[in-house]
Amino acid sequence: MRAHPAGPRHGDQLHDAVPLAPVSDLGFLDRSVWATGVERDHDGVLRVAGMDVRDLAAEFGTPAIFLDESDFRGRCKAFRSAFRGGDVYYASKAFLTSAIARWIAEEGLGLDVATGGELELAVRAGFPPERILMHGNNKSVVELAAALDARVGRIVLDSHEEIARLGFLAEARGVRAKVLVRVTVGVEAHTHEFIATAHEDQKFGFSLAGGDAAEAVRRVLALPQLDLVGLHSHIGSQIFDTAGFEVAAHRVVALASQIRDEHRLEMSELNLGGGLGIAYVTGDDPAELETVAVSLRQIVQREAAECGLAVPRLAVEPGRAIVGPSAFTLYEVGTIKDVEFGTGQHRSYVSVDGGMSDNIRTALYDAEYTVVLASRASTAGPRLSRVVGRHCESGDVVVKDAWLPADLAPGDLLAVAATGAYCRAMASNYNMVGRPPVVAVGAAGARPILRRETVEDLLALDVGD
Ligand code: LLP
Repeated sequence: MRAHPAGPRHGDQLHDAVPLAPVSDLGFLDRSVWATGVERDHDGVLRVAGMDVRDLAAEFGTPAIFLDESDFRGRCKAFRSAFRGGDVYYASKAFLTSAIARWIAEEGLGLDVATGGELELAVRAGFPPERILMHGNNKSVVELAAALDARVGRIVLDSHEEIARLGFLAEARGVRAKVLVRVTVGVEAHTHEFIATAHEDQKFGFSLAGGDAAEAVRRVLALPQLDLVGLHSHIGSQIFDTAGFEVAAHRVVALASQIRDEHRLEMSELNLGGGLGIAYVTGDDPAELETVAVSLRQIVQREAAECGLAVPRLAVEPGRAIVGPSAFTLYEVGTIKDVEFGTGQHRSYVSVDGGMSDNIRTALYDAEYTVVLASRASTAGPRLSRVVGRHCESGDVVVKDAWLPADLAPGDLLAVAATGAYCRAMASNYNMVGRPPVVAVGAAGARPILRRETVEDLLALDVGD
């Protein structure tokens, strides 16, 4: 069993022994998985925002990630509306460029940055600093100073060392920083499952059960340069329902109540972090956004009322749920091998021109993806296939089990859905491969918002012998 940051994954229980049933219509686009602007034209060719993927591949090459701008902005609007009266910080770790920062700013969301690099990009892109929230479990002194100098709106404190460092840096600058204390609530959530324990064996935040969070609050309040505005909790990623958030909110509000009793101070903000899940394959059924928002609000209201506290302002930090479904990756098929496995069963190994360098999630988390033939229609029957990359190891898998048309051939284009989050952001240069471009597609046409990395780019880092 492997560990996913958001919870346990049963890597050994995937479909090796019992392949998935073939789908009846191989050209079918499940709307829950694809960006809203993706459709098939009358010839069966995939289009995004009206643009033919064959033209996009010709212009931008493959592999390439195509981001449906209108879909992205639509999800921002939906979050803003669902969490009206609260704050939505887009988690930039999922994927960030200057264009994304601008879209987020225009859509009225805040930005969660977790490193000096993400902060620098946001600042240079002109993102309103007061809407930036700074995360990180080991922010350096330089990063903390940069956050103060940029006048970010919130800094989420994650360690006792950091409290002291930030207090010192704020005092030296004569500024007062708004801070939240990150609480480790003992809840680990993933999809439908969550585990609530007393202790959290992980690196983030201050443990609630051990009394560390209460001690952190005492230390923050002892420093006049730090303005404690609220508490923060993040319980995991790719979560499909609100049960885990309920336990987390219950525990955080209990701490808020303790703070009120001990320090006569009410927390005005409660940030429940990110983690809302998306559909990667047919059958994934994350709760509706409105339902989640209503439920989170009710949970916080109820918990606050039980402790006699004023209802704090609710904040969330979605990354995947905003950018994940908005993009797909386009690959070109290079080779196809028929391989026997098990007892007389066959699967095609379909090698594409990318792989674990542009999508590490399958190798890392046993993530599942939806893949379709994008460049043409096919009436051929289904063939069990495994979409693999071009890298030098057998774990280089993009889609572990997929049914693709039996007439699939080199030169065909494949599209893998929902690759907007944590794919380009976690891409590598394994085998000296340049990372793919991200192309925004919208009413005004297609334009790269991140260009393709070339071998020249990589060689430029090599200082020579
Ligand atoms: N807030 C905090 C404090 C976080 O640590 C994260 C993600 C988020 C918000 C955004 O979570 P989201 O809404 O995107 O689930 N690389 C993994 C996911 C790691 C998530 C890390 N923290 C993956 O590809 O599944």
